[in-house]
Amino acid sequence: MSNPSLLILPGDGIGPEVMAEVSKVIQWLGDKRGMKFDVSEDLVGGCAYDKHGVPLHDDTMAKAQEVDAVLLGAVGGPKYDNLDFSVKPERGLLRLRKEMDLFANLRPAQCFDALADFSSLKKDVVAGLDIMIVRELTSGVYFGEPRGIFEEGNERVGINTQRYTESEIDRVARSAFELAMKRNRKLCSMEKANVMESGILWREVVTEVGKDYPDVELSHMYADAGAMQLTRWPKQFDVIVTDNLFGDLLSDLAAMLTGSLGMLPSASLGSPMENGRPKALYEPVHGSAPDIAGQGKANPIACILSFAMALRYSFDAGNEAERLEQAVNAVLADGLRTADLLGEEGVQPVSTSEMGDAIVAKLEASL
Ligand code: IPM
Ligand code: MG
Repeated sequence: MSNPSLLILPGDGIGPEVMAEVSKVIQWLGDKRGMKFDVSEDLVGGCAYDKHGVPLHDDTMAKAQEVDAVLLGAVGGPKYDNLDFSVKPERGLLRLRKEMDLFANLRPAQCFDALADFSSLKKDVVAGLDIMIVRELTSGVYFGEPRGIFEEGNERVGINTQRYTESEIDRVARSAFELAMKRNRKLCSMEKANVMESGILWREVVTEVGKDYPDVELSHMYADAGAMQLTRWPKQFDVIVTDNLFGDLLSDLAAMLTGSLGMLPSASLGSPMENGRPKALYEPVHGSAPDIAGQGKANPIACILSFAMALRYSFDAGNEAERLEQAVNAVLADGLRTADLLGEEGVQPVSTSEMGDAIVAKLEASL
């Protein structure tokens, strides 16, 4: 049997630096755990634009469709701010999501014990927090038609369309219920059924799907109230399922609660391929951080934890995922901090590669 295949797209800004640390982990797994991957690497975002004039080349898109999982660093940077909308770095990422049909975006918001003090909320509100946001990723207002800027009379009008089909809601709801079954069996669905028809349909379909999961306690919240409850007492939630745009907002909010924006991973999953693995792309929640790019200051943990999600969801290696997560916890418990996590007195930051090396050392120590 051939090795599982990985396409690595480091992207822009700090993407290449943090991905280099993931490569150390991949190397270690191959050497020490006999888990070998066929790894290829390519361009996405601004760097792809620089080379090809588009943020994602068709050949890269085709490769992404074939591999068992894609790992992405980050896209974008000020250099590309004035590009035409159609070739902006973000369009590369959106094309991957859409064409791979990665409809379920899993964004855990977890508060690491060692970092509870970094939250802008009181420690007891966030300590031990562990929630999972499931964001619909291939539809809604991000992709709905009509869209554009049009002339209307003597002025212009900007239009985007919120659109959801029943089947789109059904499949993401099922993913969320399945996850809830493996966690604390609570699912909260968020929309704006008080103002949007798409929200009414969303609520109906999620309720209907819920009949197949009688063991999961389902609740509904308007998304604005959901934002409020997330800041008031986030530990009331286990899994949250919501649409593309609300999920974009709520996942940033939830990430910041943990005080660890630079630490959070994500998985974007589609339907199973022939080999049974879901189409999948893994990426850190943080962006390309152009202000610190190339300086060895970036925190590689979000990208490394994204690879842990890949081990769990694509490669059926939950035990190795856990080993990696524990290694991350252990370096944090030792007091190792990259520059984004400073605040404690007298702590000297470690570099991106020192953090990566320390995590690999913990992996080694776990054997
Ligand atoms: C995210 C980002 C993206 C989004 C951008 C970069 C297109 O904010 O992944 O949350 O809006 O989905
Ligand atoms: Mg976002």
